[in-house]
Amino acid sequence: MTATLSPELSPENVSTAYTWAAFVQEIESEIEAHRDRAFTEAREQAFAPPETEIKPWPKERLIEWLSFQTYYEYQAILFISRWLQDTPETDALVLLCHQIEDESNHFRWLNRHLEAMGASLQDWQPLPEIKAWVETFYGSLPDTISRLAAHNLAGESGACRSFASILPHLPPDLQKTMRKIMPDEQFHLNLGRQILSRYCKTDEQKARARHYALQVADLESQAITAFNRKLAALA
Ligand SMILES: [Fe+2]
Ligand SMILES: [Fe+2]
Repeated sequence: MTATLSPELSPENVSTAYTWAAFVQEIESEIEAHRDRAFTEAREQAFAPPETEIKPWPKERLIEWLSFQTYYEYQAILFISRWLQDTPETDALVLLCHQIEDESNHFRWLNRHLEAMGASLQDWQPLPEIKAWVETFYGSLPDTISRLAAHNLAGESGACRSFASILPHLPPDLQKTMRKIMPDEQFHLNLGRQILSRYCKTDEQKARARHYALQVADLESQAITAFNRKLAALA
């Protein structure tokens, strides 16, 4: 079968096309309000609240966060590649293939940093709250709308925001790698915005997108809170 892509949804154009449907913007605003709260009132729900003093993270904290991020990139390869098996929307299929290539590069680059620090992903176990969010939830999403709403819209916007706050705490070589990764995550967010704008036509579809996207805000805060508890115990 030949994929036919409308110009606005080809991989080349996603990152430069910044228009998406109003309902998508409304979902994003709701999620952002949730995260604003995490960055101000509920600091235990943020990896690095912006008002904390900017100083390099200790090695133990750095390895713990890097292990999580490397694990996340690896899991993204696995769950997105499973989604491909039942993605009838050919433009979404092609864009998700690009995303898998990006996530596999991210995994490879971050794993290299992890190993250079003397650590190994094999020795790291995700907390149950992290598994529930990354493996169970993302791994069980039923269709393109729920997947793109949950992971690309909600998950990737969270990654973009977290990375920006974490960046100043990282060593220069890792900062350089993160600056290569960040535009890719923005691309994944943008492709989610546009696929949802295209395929959510009915009220039911829009409500489904909102339902799955907002679940991420809760799962993410529970996972980050548990992660911060683990970090506090390490310190
Ligand atoms: Fe990534
Ligand atoms: Fe991504």
